[in-house]
Parts: sequence; structure tokens; C-alpha cells
Amino acid sequence: MPSKSAKDFFRPLAVGAPTPPTEIPARPSRAIHFFDPSNEKMAAKIPQMVGTVDVLLGNLEDAVKADNKLAAREGLVRIAQDTEGLGGPDAKTQLWTRINSLDSPWVLDDLTTLIPAIGHKLDVVMVPKVQGAEDIHYVDRILAQLEAKAGLDRPILVHAILETARGVANVEEICGASPRMQGLSLGPADLAADRRMKTTRVGGGHPGYLVRQDPENGEIDAPRAVFQQDLWHYTIARMVDACAMHGIYPYYGPFGDIADVVACEDQFRNAFLLGCVGTWSLHPKQIAIANKVFSPSVEDIKHARRVVAAMGDGTGAVMLDGKMEDDASLKQCLVMVELAEQLAAIDPELKQQYDAISLEA
Ligand code: GLV
Ligand code: MG
Repeated sequence: MPSKSAKDFFRPLAVGAPTPPTEIPARPSRAIHFFDPSNEKMAAKIPQMVGTVDVLLGNLEDAVKADNKLAAREGLVRIAQDTEGLGGPDAKTQLWTRINSLDSPWVLDDLTTLIPAIGHKLDVVMVPKVQGAEDIHYVDRILAQLEAKAGLDRPILVHAILETARGVANVEEICGASPRMQGLSLGPADLAADRRMKTTRVGGGHPGYLVRQDPENGEIDAPRAVFQQDLWHYTIARMVDACAMHGIYPYYGPFGDIADVVACEDQFRNAFLLGCVGTWSLHPKQIAIANKVFSPSVEDIKHARRVVAAMGDGTGAVMLDGKMEDDASLKQCLVMVELAEQLAAIDPELKQQYDAISLEA
């Protein structure tokens, strides 16, 4: 039972801070492209990436060397200030950041620097290694204080990375810890380490995690089909349920084998089919994979629209191509159709493909 009154939940946590959101808007975020703002070469590419990717995320945490923490923070401020069309409620490309972890010496400076300087452009703050609701409460209160001080009129949203065993055990309370909660990402590398899993890969499968076909005629040494299994299925499924329950959004995380675009696409698609809305991108070529995978296919939308049209007022059941459709399958189709509409609003190429669908064909 929460110790706070339901009415207090939507009161600002600091005098003068913006009112917390009652709903998290479904802004397209198929690819969250990570960049290191201390890397001049990467930073120089940011302006031309605006409009080509749903989210650009200035990473301040892992993968940024300790000596570069200050340069990354300051680089992000500069990039946000100088880049047209990046971040804010009407921007085509959202601006997110991943701050340092709450047990690091850098995180407080991250927040006290970023919010006054670029809080009006920052859409989402991603918090790594979240263990429980207390971590979200800490960030929630600081954000409110800084928003009030900076005179911001729009609350900055919070996204948690699920990458500790305790975080997974507390996943529901994390999602419900603040009205600012926007979503969760899977952090397979830290999570594997924290759980003492025996994979050294960043996301993706493992050839040793498999099931094997039974032997025929007791011949255990004869060749048998093996099927690799998804190491992340359980965690992603838990994440999806926790997020859906709280009206926020689940994401796959990093896929470290940049060259293996095929397995990357498979991992992203598994997450999409299970209910995730997007993923991280660690290299520009993963943006194209994410945009493709996290946009419903033309075939799916064609089918979904046929079901919507055939179901009329939504009650009863109909047969289409020998398959039964009813209220529940109509709702499944509406999930797809609504997502397609949201994506078409920001992606002209997709809009053209969806618009070209004819129901007769
Ligand atoms: C991401 O941060 C991970 O640890 O996988
Ligand atoms: Mg991590």
C-alpha cells in the first residue's frame, strides 16, 4: 500500500516545478541512438542525424572514460544548445541523456549542470542501474527542484535501465515510482554480470543456451537438430508486463555485435513481438534495423485494417481467410493500426507505404 495519498502523486515535488504528467505520450522512439558527447567526431555528426532517428541520447555513463566525464557533460550542453530541431515537445528527434549511476561521484553534477542549461530541450533522463523505487524517488525530487529553479514549464521524464537482479525483482515498483516514469530498457551486459550469468556478450543469444532434439532409436551421438534459445526472454517479458501495467514503454537495450546485423535484427524483432516499442542503437547501421523492425509491416497493417473494417461495431465474430476474428483480435489489430498512425505522422516514407495499402488486394 503506497504511503502517499493518491492526490499527492500528481503534485509537484518542489514549489514552482511543473505539474507531473498524468499520461506519457506515445512519441515514436524506435531507435535510441547513443553518442558520446566528448567524442568530437561523433558530436560533429549530430546535426545531420536530426530528423533521421527518433531519439538521440547523449551518453554520460559507461563507455565514457572517467577522464572524459566533464567533457561529455559539457559537450552535451553545447550540442543541445547549438542543434536546431533536437529535443523539446515538437522536435522530430527527441533528446535524451543517460546520466551516471546514482552511486557515482558524477551524477549530481550531471543533473545540476544539464537541467538549468538545457532542461527545456531534454525530453528524457535515463537512469542506469536502478535498484528500486527509492532510486526513482531520489531523481524525481532533484529534478523537481532543478526544474523549479530553472523555471521549466514541462516535466522531464525518467527512464530506468533494468540491469541488476534487485531491479528486476522490483520492476513493478520501479515503473510505478513516479508519474515521470516514461519507460524501461533492458541492460543485458550489467544484468548478466550482476546475476552471475556466464555470457560475456553484450546482449543477443549464446550458442550454448539451446535445446536439442531427442535422439532417434537411442542414438545419442547421431546428428540432432539444436535450437538456440533467447537468454533475455524472461526479463523482457517481465519488463513488458510491468510497463503495460503502469502505462509506460519497454525497450530492448544494446546489441554489442555491430557486424552481426542479422542476429541484431532477430533480437530486436523478438522484443518488438513481445511488446517493446524500440531499442538502443550503438552504431548508425542499427538505426535502420530498428526503424524497420519497430514499424509494423505493410502486410500486418493491411491485415489489421481488414479486420477493423470487417468487425464493424466491434462486437460478435467474423471469419476472414478461414480464421476467426472477434473483439480480442480486433484489439490486437488496433494496437498495430494506432502504432502505424503514430509512426506515419513522423515518417513520410512509412506514411506513403501505409497509404498505398488497398483493402481489396
Ligand atoms: C547497458 O547499459 C547494459 O549494461 O547492457
Ligand atoms: Mg549498463
